[in-house]
Amino acid sequence: MNFLSIREMERPEIAKLLRSAASLKKDSLSGKKLPAFPDKTVGLLFFEDSTRTRVGFEMAARRLGIGFTSFGVKGSSMSKGESLKDTVLTLKNEGVDGLVIRHEAAGAPNVAARFFDGPVINAGDGMHEHPTQALADATTILEHRKKLDGLVVSIVGDVMHSRVARSNIWLLSKMGATVRLVAPRTLMPPYKELIPAEFHYSLKTGLDGADVVMTLRMQMERMENGLISSLGEYASMYQVNSGTLRYAKPDALVMHPGPVNRGLELDDLTVDGKQSVINEQVENGVYVRMAIFNAVFASKAKKKS
Ligand code: CP
Repeated sequence: MNFLSIREMERPEIAKLLRSAASLKKDSLSGKKLPAFPDKTVGLLFFEDSTRTRVGFEMAARRLGIGFTSFGVKGSSMSKGESLKDTVLTLKNEGVDGLVIRHEAAGAPNVAARFFDGPVINAGDGMHEHPTQALADATTILEHRKKLDGLVVSIVGDVMHSRVARSNIWLLSKMGATVRLVAPRTLMPPYKELIPAEFHYSLKTGLDGADVVMTLRMQMERMENGLISSLGEYASMYQVNSGTLRYAKPDALVMHPGPVNRGLELDDLTVDGKQSVINEQVENGVYVRMAIFNAVFASKAKKKS
């Protein structure tokens, strides 16, 4: 079993993972016995920088007794020109049981899955998907709102370059939420008709009565010149702050996958304010990654017996 994208999952599978994450969180916090996979080792292959996703997978592995080996291009033989395919084959032949991959190229985890004999988990691939982030976000919303069905979730910012937005659009729409995308035209994704979301170009209409305001990082590293006139002008039109947050419901949740560019996507007061659940998103990231490891290794154990 691989875990590559939310788009290819059905609603019951998503719901099952969300229930599993909630249950693992409850059991972890109450000191109950957790599932353990001491005979498993995963390779954490981070070919793009990461703090919360990489550490989230490391913490999840530790809590389930899974061994791990972490590496990126620097420090591995990929810096000498070894291909992704040969890297994956090397790890397979060394007995690694599962792979977690972050890569700048969309589809890299799918390529790895073709050559690896075991579960491959997508930790964010280019502008394609970041499925564990969407599960962490949904877990966080569910802790405050009980169900996703019927909620209005406004996703604000650099939607075009955001794998977080793509995974969230698929997850939230499959689970019955209304998704609104709020961005300048130049930061909206193409093929509008294929995306299960409303498109809004102003914060006022986009946030109107929203239950959740999910802001996104401006992804300068993936951005061509000329998409926005200046960061200052972007902030003046699209920053979520105490003034613009008033368009949403008074108790709307404020989210951001991190890392936050403080003063750009959100002002300091809103990042640290009482409506912000950003730290909870990070915490829940560990539990959803535990749920994924549990799902992929428990299903493999069943297959073997
Ligand atoms: N949200 C997220 O993917 O953050 P990192 O890049 O720090 O992992």
